[in-house]
Amino acid sequence: MIVLKSQEEIDIMRESGKVTSYILSELSGFIKPGISTKDIDTFVEDIILKNNMIPSFKGYNGYPASACVSVNEEVVHGIPSSKRILYEGDIVSVDVGSTYKGYVSDAARTYPVGRISAEARELINSTEASFFEGLKFCKVGNRLSDISAAIQRKAESDGFSVVRDFVGHGIGRAMHEEPQIPNYGKPGRGPRLASGMVFAIEPMINQGGYEVEVLENNWTVVTIDKKLSAHYENTVVITDGEPELLTLFDAR
Ligand code: MF3
Ligand code: CO
Repeated sequence: MIVLKSQEEIDIMRESGKVTSYILSELSGFIKPGISTKDIDTFVEDIILKNNMIPSFKGYNGYPASACVSVNEEVVHGIPSSKRILYEGDIVSVDVGSTYKGYVSDAARTYPVGRISAEARELINSTEASFFEGLKFCKVGNRLSDISAAIQRKAESDGFSVVRDFVGHGIGRAMHEEPQIPNYGKPGRGPRLASGMVFAIEPMINQGGYEVEVLENNWTVVTIDKKLSAHYENTVVITDGEPELLTLFDAR
């Protein structure tokens, strides 16, 4: 069952989304060569707590941190570590969730560390653009897989591949609600979109093949060919008009 949110619930999720969005926007100035992935987690957690919110990821199925920090061939769920130092030319995906009054917002971005290759920049740009292609179909009356198909079309037309094993999701009182939202598939399938649905849409796009595996720590997902991966996610409300992005504010 897809839970529809009331205006009051969306108002709470908007507050949560503002903090998540603010963190992601501040991270672009914080991420630089020499910091560790743990430094990113500390930065994220401090801002969530300062805003009297709860880090949604910490303790989720035993996850040990407030952010997922995934470097280069790491796709998602990288565990922050003081030993993992970022170097010039790396790319780093940061995924953040904040819970406010029981409601979760969830978003992710991929950042350059110093100067990066043109190929890495293209991957980041295409991943972000694929999200916005999907967003065009976030309208009442469309079918869920119209979003999926649009994301896949963009990423593959740019020469990249779409991760199959991890998908977007409904979001609200729980971080993961129905429906699952694959970033690939044929259009015209699945439930019709309705006002009050809230989705975390999150393309994970690979430079090489789409195959991934989970490391020994049982969390970190990596590409099997060790090529780069990028991630872009926002929490999106379906409305009678344009979709509302709860995690994309210019928060300064
Ligand atoms: N943002 C991730 C998702 O969309 C959640 C992180 S998994 C956690 O599924 F375990 F770290 F919380
Ligand atoms: Co998510």
